[in-house]
Amino acid sequence: MATAAARWREALAEWAIPKEVLEQAPESPWHFPVALFASRADEAARAEPTRSNRRALEALPEGGTALDVGCGGGAASLPLARRASRLIGVDSSAEMLEAFLERAGAAGLDAEAIEGAWPDVAGQTPVADVVVCHHVLYNAPDLTRFARRMTDHARSRVVVEMTLEHPQSNLNRLWLRFHGIVRPTRPTADDAMDVLREAGLQPRREDWNAPRPGGFDTKAEAVAMVRRLLCLPADRDPEVAEALGEQWEVSRGRWGFPDRAVATIWWDGVG
Ligand SMILES: C[S@@+](CC[C@H](N)C(=O)[O-])C[C@H]1O[C@@H](n2cnc3c(N)ncnc32)[C@H](O)[C@@H]1O
Repeated sequence: MATAAARWREALAEWAIPKEVLEQAPESPWHFPVALFASRADEAARAEPTRSNRRALEALPEGGTALDVGCGGGAASLPLARRASRLIGVDSSAEMLEAFLERAGAAGLDAEAIEGAWPDVAGQTPVADVVVCHHVLYNAPDLTRFARRMTDHARSRVVVEMTLEHPQSNLNRLWLRFHGIVRPTRPTADDAMDVLREAGLQPRREDWNAPRPGGFDTKAEAVAMVRRLLCLPADRDPEVAEALGEQWEVSRGRWGFPDRAVATIWWDGVG
């Protein structure tokens, strides 16, 4: 029988966009919009600590360090500024790291950015008290190695946050409508738990409904992002807006998807 790690990898591979659709996409669907993740970080830094933040804070010593894997604008680590003295951000995008450094500096923290894909850059990344990693696991085909390298970089604890289902599964209805393609429903947070246990870790988990911080200033920007994700040209925006219908809403003054179910998953570090 296939291992949980192999099932995870295979299920993620199913999310590949069919070649014929990708070839006619006018813009890459894979680009993470920096403005969106910067706004997520700004709102997260202002908000009360979430359940994931509290799990990290309770393991973080006063003046400690936090490593944020796939940091984006820093939404997972900036809420730790009240106790941390130093943040280390790892991201494969230089633009995201720029947004992260700007925000960490403004919060009065010492910060370091490491550009590259985790776990490839683990060897050049310092060990921290706490490792946080929010909304990145669905980008990690080799989840065992990804998780083990976070474990050996945490003196105290690793805290992961992920949606219960793949973050793009709320577009499955639109893929069917615009391309006649049935998109996958796996892997899920349950599958990630299986991989973590199989890797010899002892993850604990709490599910909750996360207020989705961040979003776009205008509906047009939000629609454009979905249109890019669907590999469609800009002249299809009106149809995409119509198809999204009630699925999008204004929350805290910004356009985005509604709140969604997430899992906070944490385990002990060995760093
Ligand atoms: C969905 S965003 C989440 C950003 C941030 N953690 C948050 O919660 O707002 C995913 C981020 O992870 C980065 N990323 C994806 N795979 C990565 C990898 N293997 N190593 C490092 N960064 C990665 C992307 O560039 C992007 O900034």
